Amino acid sequence: RRILVLNGPNLNLLGTREPELYGTATLADVEEVCAAEARRHGLEVTCVQTNHEGGLVDALHEAAAAGDVVGVVLNAAAYTHTSVALLDAVRATRLPVVEVHLTNPHAREPFRHVSYVSPVAVAVVAGAGVAGYRYAVDLLAERSSA
Ligand code: DQA
Repeated sequence: RRILVLNGPNLNLLGTREPELYGTATLADVEEVCAAEARRHGLEVTCVQTNHEGGLVDALHEAAAAGDVVGVVLNAAAYTHTSVALLDAVRATRLPVVEVHLTNPHAREPFRHVSYVSPVAVAVVAGAGVAGYRYAVDLLAERSSA
């Protein structure tokens, strides 16, 4: 059984992208944090990052079809604030999704205050930095064993 860690656009640049906002950890660091937390619960992770909206949708479809994915840690980045397709994909797949953001979008520009993912998310972790991913994995793991 495994958890899908799904990261959206520009998160491949973590470490060098606006470090004053997003910190200096790389995407590989984030994925390792998730893998370690999942391992603690006897789960595996599959990590996907894409800069394309449809790639996020495809990854959700594939996770649902696989049958062994207990939940998704989703940082859809900017598509969070724009993507009806992503909302529909979460609904359609019925996968438990925890929405994660490194920063707190509510403390930023007004266009980041809207999330198309939140209405279909089990939980939202925002503003906790990389630790937020660890909390999300922990939540999905506990939920899947309950
Ligand atoms: C983000 C917040 C989004 O508003 C932004 O577009 C991102 C990253 C975060 O993790 O804080 O790319 O999802």
